[in-house]
Amino acid sequence: MDAVEAVYDPFSPEFVADPYPAYAELRAAGRAHWHGPTRQWLIPHYEDVSALLRDRRLGRTYTHRFTHEEFGREAPDAAYEPFHTLNDHGLLDLEAADHSRIRRLVSKAFTPRTVENLAPTVRRLAADLVGDLVAAGGGDLQAAVAEPLPVAVIAQMLGVPGDDEERGRLRPWSAAICGMFELNPSEETARLAVEASVEFSDYLRELIARRRKSPGDDLISALIGVEELTEQEMISTCVLLLNAGHEATVNTTVNGWWTLLKHGVRPDPEKLSTAVEELLRYDTPLQMFERWVLDDIEIGGRLIPRGSEVALLFGSANRDPARFGPTADELDLTRADNPHITFGAGIHYCLGAPLARLELAAVFGELLRQAPDLRLVAEPVRQPGYVIRGFEELLVEV
Ligand code: HEM
Repeated sequence: MDAVEAVYDPFSPEFVADPYPAYAELRAAGRAHWHGPTRQWLIPHYEDVSALLRDRRLGRTYTHRFTHEEFGREAPDAAYEPFHTLNDHGLLDLEAADHSRIRRLVSKAFTPRTVENLAPTVRRLAADLVGDLVAAGGGDLQAAVAEPLPVAVIAQMLGVPGDDEERGRLRPWSAAICGMFELNPSEETARLAVEASVEFSDYLRELIARRRKSPGDDLISALIGVEELTEQEMISTCVLLLNAGHEATVNTTVNGWWTLLKHGVRPDPEKLSTAVEELLRYDTPLQMFERWVLDDIEIGGRLIPRGSEVALLFGSANRDPARFGPTADELDLTRADNPHITFGAGIHYCLGAPLARLELAAVFGELLRQAPDLRLVAEPVRQPGYVIRGFEELLVEV
């Protein structure tokens, strides 16, 4: 085993529990490290992660420029075709002209102003969910508050009907699909993702047909008349919005409360948005994003040739003392200079960042107000994945 493998082991529970000391070692050892087990170049420094996210010599896909053979990669397994069809036609996995066309169409629904109009609804929902948790004397913060809030908000925006039967399926489908975003997914993970992709796509096709007959005041109805969008792109982008619209928000809520409880601190409600930014930085809910190298690049004197894959270590970038100073590894709920990379950068910069911030402020604000003595009941168990960082549950009493 070489030195990099000894430090960076995303398949080990110990590493996943606390990857930050390993990141510090990687940063100290250089700017780009070849990692054999994942066949990726690891990029641990803030400045490099930030620059590469904006660099058009890299892409989330390569298929807009090369065939699989030209790029030296195998075509995806045909058995997983329903997952790839769904994934590859959504906004996040398109590049160049296709990406800008779809981003322009959906971005209107997510501007800071549009999102601000949702604020009263989001705050009321947060108050009700936290009220129920408090009335019960506590419970699982994840299932009772962290999950239902963003799921309800994004479902309502897209026009997924409010009954539990329809919305209740969104989270399991999303979880099954997101399994594919972990490193080296198993065959079983892929099988579940394919199954969920088929069911979720069928559901959306049917929902689009329903909205075509009786339009509502929602994003799906708004997109129906848009000629520049194929039905597959619409299905794929709606699935992306429904999944991205809650996954990381759920985990930021739970990781954030875990951090607060572990440190025995509470944000000042007057400075809540600054504290939320720090929680987004301190324990980054999406630890790593991949990019394909479309044209040779050089990082720290090392040539990374076309056809390579880089792993941009967001969790490490957010703890880089070169950007965040000597307190980079500390939790500082009043940190003023905090340009964290948690929402990405460049053309794929998170479309939902204003919405996520609104939801997080509402949930943290209500919990501080209604449950000032919130306590942990049991040590939470981590979800095994490295890329998507979260817990199975967070049992609390109030
Ligand atoms: C704390 C919560 C969230 C975090 C940390 C987060 C993070 C990210 C990141 C890092 C990216 C860029 C990925 C890349 O460059 O490869 C991204 C993209 C995206 N996010 Fe979020 N996100 C969050 C919440 C949301 C919400 C609430 C929505 C709701 C719609 C959303 C929708 C999207 C979409 C549609 C994209 C793709 C944008 C594009 O490709 O142009 N996200 N998100």
